[in-house]
Amino acid sequence: MQTVLTRDPREAARFIKRGETVAFPTETVYGLGANLFDEAAVAKIFAAKQRPPDNPLIAHISDLRDLDLIAENINATARKLIETFFPAPLTLVLHKRARVPFAATAGLETIGVRMPRYELALEFIRACRAPVAAPSANLSGRPSPTTWQAVKEDLEGRIACILIDEQTEIGLESTVVDCTSEAPRILRAGSVTLEQLRAVVPEIQLANIKIENEPARSPGMKYRHYAPRARVHLIKDANELAAREIATREQIESAYIGLREPKDLSRLKICRVCASVEDYARELFRFFRACDAADVQTIFCERVEEKGLGAALMERLRKAADESE
Ligand code: TXA
Ligand code: MG
Repeated sequence: MQTVLTRDPREAARFIKRGETVAFPTETVYGLGANLFDEAAVAKIFAAKQRPPDNPLIAHISDLRDLDLIAENINATARKLIETFFPAPLTLVLHKRARVPFAATAGLETIGVRMPRYELALEFIRACRAPVAAPSANLSGRPSPTTWQAVKEDLEGRIACILIDEQTEIGLESTVVDCTSEAPRILRAGSVTLEQLRAVVPEIQLANIKIENEPARSPGMKYRHYAPRARVHLIKDANELAAREIATREQIESAYIGLREPKDLSRLKICRVCASVEDYARELFRFFRACDAADVQTIFCERVEEKGLGAALMERLRKAADESE
């Protein structure tokens, strides 16, 4: 399949109307979209990404009025979150309507709904004239794409079109909140932070994703995600690099990302010192991909404080490092 590259949201939307898949930018990461109500098109998303069939998709809307096409029995908590935050890098898990195909929800009776705040994303979805089901536009297991080049690297020849644009602003996927359980629960941290959510819904909980005998509430969380091919080590601060006394050979093939500059830069293949936690979040997935391209064997990532956006960043770092503390 030839993958068309375009900057025109209306041209991209024409592929959706024909039942094809299109990658498009949002404020978080690039998504791989298809018409939510077209089962065959939704199946193409899973095929292109090689996504496990038990991992549900997020429905993207451009207008709050479209919520009722997708979800029902929306409770007071969800309404409050919608009113306060939408459009936002925030996905709410709600009860799905019967017409939403199980192909999109991986058989669940619930559906994640998000209204992105990024103008080009909204224009694209509007032009599709239907809710757009979209996971991140990467091959399953790879870091989410924050540039159109990353989408192309993973999916060229496998999807109909890429709506090309700048690097995404936030760089981490949306916060996911389950509003169907008794107390709302955060299934995935993101740039709408726990602190911001608590200010509106004080009873909100962090989901314990390690509960074994409970059906996975957010099936996606059980897969190894965000992972470059290199081994990822989390370090307390940049100076731990030297303290580790890693073999010279390993150092040459290693890379570093963090907020502070390490003392001995000379032996690192790639070194990215970030100006802020926001900058770190924005750059992380692109950095992982650059490390893979440069055949880096070991990546050192500086830990950050787990508050605000730092909590979301640490969640991704831990997954990449396969740490489950
Ligand atoms: O920022 C984002 O959320 C991006 C952009 C494109 O919007 N999308 C994205 O989608 O990251 P994806 O599929 O890579 O991640 C969706 C996450 C997965 O962990 C999935 O399991 C969870 O949301 N999820 C989706 N629907 C769910 C549902 N009905 N119940 C529980 N978890 C759900
Ligand atoms: Mg994803």
